[in-house]
Amino acid sequence: MSIDYSERIPNNVNLAEDRRLRRALESWQPRFLQWWSEMGPTLPTQDVYLRTAVAVGREGWAHFDHVALPDYRWGIFLSERNTDRRIAYGEHKGQPVWQQIPGEYRAELQRLIVIQGDTEPASVEQQRRLGLTAPSLYDLRNLFQVNVEEGRHLWAMVYLLHAYFGRTGRDEAEALLLRNSGSEDSPRILGAFNEETPDWLSFYMFTYFTDRDGKYQLGTLKESAFDPLSRTCEFMLKEEAHHMFVGTTGVDRVVERTAQLTREHDSDDVRKLGGIPLDVIQKYINFHYSVSLDLFGSETSTNVANYFTAGLKGRWQEERRKDDHVLTEAFAVVPRVEGGQVVEARLPALTALNADLRGEYIADCGTGVNRWNRILTDHGLDATLYLPHVGFNRQVGAFAGHHLTPDGRVIEERDWRASRDRWLPTAEDKAYVRALMRPVYEPGKIAAWVAPPRNGINGRPFDYEYVHL
Ligand SMILES: [Fe+2]
Ligand SMILES: [Fe+2]
Repeated sequence: MSIDYSERIPNNVNLAEDRRLRRALESWQPRFLQWWSEMGPTLPTQDVYLRTAVAVGREGWAHFDHVALPDYRWGIFLSERNTDRRIAYGEHKGQPVWQQIPGEYRAELQRLIVIQGDTEPASVEQQRRLGLTAPSLYDLRNLFQVNVEEGRHLWAMVYLLHAYFGRTGRDEAEALLLRNSGSEDSPRILGAFNEETPDWLSFYMFTYFTDRDGKYQLGTLKESAFDPLSRTCEFMLKEEAHHMFVGTTGVDRVVERTAQLTREHDSDDVRKLGGIPLDVIQKYINFHYSVSLDLFGSETSTNVANYFTAGLKGRWQEERRKDDHVLTEAFAVVPRVEGGQVVEARLPALTALNADLRGEYIADCGTGVNRWNRILTDHGLDATLYLPHVGFNRQVGAFAGHHLTPDGRVIEERDWRASRDRWLPTAEDKAYVRALMRPVYEPGKIAAWVAPPRNGINGRPFDYEYVHL
């Protein structure tokens, strides 16, 4: 399963032997590069210390080197095939997984792949100007690493579209480059991917909360009975781990810096000291968490029930679940608003699978908040950060149209609006954060609003020249 780097498109799917597919992808490649030059990072650089996949096995899959961004070897990497793999759930449970797509599931699978594929280039577009204000070369390198890998994730989905969906797949692959984040005429498919990522606090929050949604969506597709999709997502999840790391440790370092400033100057007013106040950090959490929850869709969905039963997408860690994996008799408890308060409704588990996945995600999000609170405690501070209630600031699903406080009380719209500025970033908060964003490109130096990382990348020190400008 080693990767063939002698090909124009690096791959471990034997592209050399499939001339038609290779030609199709080779004609998509210049369009991708065109998109990267127009919609990718705006900061000009000579080269960046990046990892590139050289194998897909568990150990040592990545190679690190300085690479000029447009020369990054985007390619097609699927995890190793398990020839014994069987469908773990739904009506085909126990049958061998599919190497080709059954005709009756073609449209649904294509839709799932397009929606996933659309998010990958979207985040590159959202983050394209961040390099202009990077707080350190270390952070700049991490940004570009995330960007090139999201570009590779686009390749991953485009490969599936080209290889398995014929003409309509090729058209969809084309369209993935034509929609753009925030565009009036042809926006990205999902709301959160049309929001801007205007500053580095937003970037850390995005990689913590929104990339983590991606992790959970990929986790469900990794369970797919369509084996090439499963293997594609398995390898994407490996890359995705670094994106989570950038988010988690990014917020760690902002919280740590704020805590240091508070301690050193014995003052909560870290604005005067060039730090980001905890209440602003909390508002950013509230915003990014709530828009990311919207990405899980409605709590109840017959489409998703059908996907599960058909074997197209499973639950998070399906095989570790201790139930019948068919769920026709099972029930789930899902929150919703009734009579002016949040109640728990008992619903068929099959239709509540979005809520199931969201529950896994929420638990995972909580681990970061615990870390951040430990940092505050370690600095002797009593303040705490929290995740707002699942119904706070929601535009999708059972809570859309209701007005909930961060602690989960249902209130009147008028009252919600009156308090909004205490819960979500105001124009003034955003302007303050934005004003802190000035580039620091000197090796070993860092902006005043964020602490340096504990460790560098791949054993290199923090003051390593991660990027040559
Ligand atoms: Fe991705
Ligand atoms: Fe990601």
